[in-house]
Amino acid sequence: MKKLTGLKKIRTAIFISGKGSNFENLLKHSFKKKFPIEIVYVVSNTFKAKGLKFARKFKINYKIINFKNQIRDENLVILKMKKYNVKLICLAGFMKILSKNFIKKFNGKIINIHPSLLPKYKGLNTHKRVIENKEKYTGCTVHFVNSKLDSGKIILQKKIKVLKTDNPKSLAKRVLKQEHLLFPKAIKKIKINL
Ligand code: GRF
Repeated sequence: MKKLTGLKKIRTAIFISGKGSNFENLLKHSFKKKFPIEIVYVVSNTFKAKGLKFARKFKINYKIINFKNQIRDENLVILKMKKYNVKLICLAGFMKILSKNFIKKFNGKIINIHPSLLPKYKGLNTHKRVIENKEKYTGCTVHFVNSKLDSGKIILQKKIKVLKTDNPKSLAKRVLKQEHLLFPKAIKKIKINL
């Protein structure tokens, strides 16, 4: 992976909490000349997020902020977003709920990936619930973030079949594969007012 500089790309921050496979995938895309974003900052709510290794590897500035004092911590994030001139925030497996105030500040500039076919299965444990309810299909959704959980305007969705043999783990794996295709596609589709 080689870093390209000097191109006019949307300055983007990625918020993570875990493995960071979506972050890694977006990073790889961002190094392509024609992909519209460059990742300039990473926020993680925990030092345990394995995805932080990609920020370290590619020398992307990052901050671990636990959001325990939400007002103080979000204000700190807002300062960082200003400092790094961030125009788009991608939530990629980020497990904290942002306040209405924060979302308002970045209105139309925060997008999230969710492992279900929204509006179905908002929130956590989507794959387990999908299997328990014997759904024939599931998938993933990229959407704008508004003040209601997993409820903002949908940008793109991908539908896949739930197999009779699926368990939450196998389903999560197959959905994640689709997430890696969908998130970059959704980013190419959106228009951000810079
Ligand atoms: C993804 O399934 C995402 O949709 C969900 O959490 C998982 C994060 O995976 N919210 P990763 O950290 O990007 O590997």
